[in-house]
Amino acid sequence: MPSTLNAPTTTTAQEIMERLHLLAQHTEQEGMMTRTYLTAAHRGAAGQIAAWMRDAGMTVRRDAVGNVIGRYEGTEEGRAVLMTGSHFDTVRNGGIYDGLLGIILPISCVAAWHRAGKRFPFPIEIVAFSEEEGVRFKAPMLGSRAIAGTFQHAVLNNTDEQGISMRDAMQAADFDPAKISAAAAPKDSIAAFIEVHIEQGPVLLNEGLPLGIVTAISGASRFMLELEGLAGHAGTVPMNIRHDAAMAAAELALFIEQRCSNVDGLVGTIGQWQVPNGATNVIPGRCTLSLDVRAGDDAIRLAAVNDIETELARICSKRGVRSKLTKTYETTSATCAPWLQDGWRTAMALNNCTPRLLPSGAGHDAMAIATIAPMAMLFVRCGNGGISHNPAETMTTEDAGIAADVFMDFVENFDAVAAKASASN
Ligand code: GLV
Ligand code: MN
Ligand code: MN
Repeated sequence: MPSTLNAPTTTTAQEIMERLHLLAQHTEQEGMMTRTYLTAAHRGAAGQIAAWMRDAGMTVRRDAVGNVIGRYEGTEEGRAVLMTGSHFDTVRNGGIYDGLLGIILPISCVAAWHRAGKRFPFPIEIVAFSEEEGVRFKAPMLGSRAIAGTFQHAVLNNTDEQGISMRDAMQAADFDPAKISAAAAPKDSIAAFIEVHIEQGPVLLNEGLPLGIVTAISGASRFMLELEGLAGHAGTVPMNIRHDAAMAAAELALFIEQRCSNVDGLVGTIGQWQVPNGATNVIPGRCTLSLDVRAGDDAIRLAAVNDIETELARICSKRGVRSKLTKTYETTSATCAPWLQDGWRTAMALNNCTPRLLPSGAGHDAMAIATIAPMAMLFVRCGNGGISHNPAETMTTEDAGIAADVFMDFVENFDAVAAKASASN
């Protein structure tokens, strides 16, 4: 049976959309959605999220990496948690739905259950993960990795553009890096993790479907590359004797584009590209760039990375440029638990939704939590051609309502779906 609590869909949907817009006021850059780890905007958003969690009948705690965790207590002692959530940091000049939908939507659903006096045998925890995008300190998924117990302590030494280390930023914000290990969820304490997220692509939009069930999340390899050539006068040094670091980068970039094109699911991106101390009349002596390679199939991704490294060595030797390639992040692809995908299918059937299956090319907190608990994701259709990591990112109130209905039905049927899965094992 579809949930009778789902009746006030429009008010729940409107609340979700209003809150997403309200949260967008917590930004570092006026007129843009930018909220990076441990900034004033980040602190403001955390406070607002915590307040909404409390209003929804949840108890709220912060952990040592700044995750905001709301708990809606269950009725049975000792039951493992049904965990949900997503991240509340953003990329620079990004959208207002990426991550936030997966926090705000469950809070509104819990609020509806709280108003109706409904509790489940199991506790529900909504985690607003403090950091996923890796923007400020070039280290992604800090929040979900802390909960998964896979936080890489070396990244505490990473510095932001102002030279502030992550360790110092945490201490200044009253978070104790020495306590990060204690943020890890105890073994077997999470029954399942589910994440609602905008699709960040055009598949659902093009097929006229509001929701999709994610099958797996692509693995990723990320690097910073420093190229060092020789600065010189742009007017006097002949082309054939230059050691131009930016041209070496350009040649590598074109190789990456060609290598990653036409291989199913493989993508390569240079998202940051700087010529330190560059000037119009100076041959670039240095060039620093980021590199992000992803694929649903780990072997395909690793083969591409290997080829890129080989090509980098060839280009550098030919051009007399030195290179330093530093891996900043690597994660394998993560499969969404089939029994949880079935749970989405059941909930979608109750709401007359076609259960479209699709992979996720984007990374998500769910992939970090997948190392300690079964996980699954529900995608919600994006508008504007499916654009994301862009201020044009959008979705509709109607889709927020459908997603909330499906989320509520998923939770209400969770014990039945889990029992069916364990019976068939
Ligand atoms: C997160 O948005 C990522 O996929 O990089
Ligand atoms: Mn994102
Ligand atoms: Mn996201």
